[in-house]
Amino acid sequence: MDLDGKRIVLGMTGGIACYKVCELARRLQDEGADVQVVMTQAALKFVTATSMQALTGKPVFVDAWQADANGRVDDAMPHIALTRGADAVVVAPASADFIAKVAHGLCDDLLSTLVLARAPDVPLLLVPAMNVEMWSHPATQRNVAQVKADGATVLGPASGAQACGEVGLGRMLEAHELREDIVAFFQPKLLAGRRVLITAGPTFEPIDPVRGITNLSSGKMGFALARAAREAGAAVTLVAGPTALATPRGVQRVDVRTAREMHDAVMGYAHHADVFIAVAAVADWRVANPSKTKLKRTKGAPPALMFEANPDILADVATLKRPPYCVGFAAESDDVIANAQAKLQAKRIALIVANRAQDAFGADDSELHLVDAVGVTTLPRASKLAHARRIVAEIAARLQPR
Ligand code: C5P
Repeated sequence: MDLDGKRIVLGMTGGIACYKVCELARRLQDEGADVQVVMTQAALKFVTATSMQALTGKPVFVDAWQADANGRVDDAMPHIALTRGADAVVVAPASADFIAKVAHGLCDDLLSTLVLARAPDVPLLLVPAMNVEMWSHPATQRNVAQVKADGATVLGPASGAQACGEVGLGRMLEAHELREDIVAFFQPKLLAGRRVLITAGPTFEPIDPVRGITNLSSGKMGFALARAAREAGAAVTLVAGPTALATPRGVQRVDVRTAREMHDAVMGYAHHADVFIAVAAVADWRVANPSKTKLKRTKGAPPALMFEANPDILADVATLKRPPYCVGFAAESDDVIANAQAKLQAKRIALIVANRAQDAFGADDSELHLVDAVGVTTLPRASKLAHARRIVAEIAARLQPR
């Protein structure tokens, strides 16, 4: 679990978005986090301390003068003790008033006091939720800039319909989005400042307006790599063939259908990329004579399809004048490593991630081999996200320092 052993103080201030924090408290625990809720008086107007206690299995702290009934908070000083040993303070929802208080160092209740009293190595994550006019008011924007300058991380807000009936920026992020962002926050920033370009999924080569040739690639590995690279601090562009997978948080996605569309999209970004990871299962051939109208079933001979070769996207990127660091994937049915070594040389790329074709498509875990000029590193069977994080670390270690 991605938040195993992490102690998170979850602060709640006044706002209807408190209802989403009931869910967030559960999702953080699903990831293994220990969650201690602290609520302001205004938060209590929206959900009860009993709800949050039931959801976390722990007494909720509200009052700076509250004596500790459980003997867990030393000297009945919760404003100090609650953050000692914590890995982060997450305030969700963070109201305009609360952000203003943090910006000015005001501390007139338990939550604002513990934020000020936390040690400098305990990160503060603020998750704003407020009406669009409150969010865009210059005073709030000044305060947000100030808390960021003081080291806080601000997650969101999103734009959209608001509970007040107005529309715009100020919606709190959803619990599943915050889960992904908070997990990402704790990942090492091995690719900070790097631009990473990734292809993922299958391609689809039309035969006629309703039929085509595709393959069984699910896109899961490429999407996991996009997520892992973003978690590591990179700016990520994901060029995806047809797949229903959700876009990882913070990733720029470009949807394409055919190999040629994928090639064109990739070449448009490749010049600016520091790393290119070709995960897509690109069709080697396309139908040379696709029909403009739907082919009809006739009694005679079936239609004859002619094929022509698609561009090799990875090879074209690898032979640019100033190519990014290029990583290829190879699914082989036999002689996995020998075939990967041959491909490494043929495509003139830095690193190949090889696996058995029988394992590769659609599965959630597999064994991988990283093959480069130096040798072979075998990554034992693990989830695609675990592999993706390891591959990102291996790439980061091989990049030239800037
Ligand atoms: O040559 P082969 O298809 O086995 O190589 C696989 C690698 O090359 C993968 O990284 C795949 O994404 C990439 N590739 C490509 N364009 C193609 C074919 C493969 O980028 N037309």
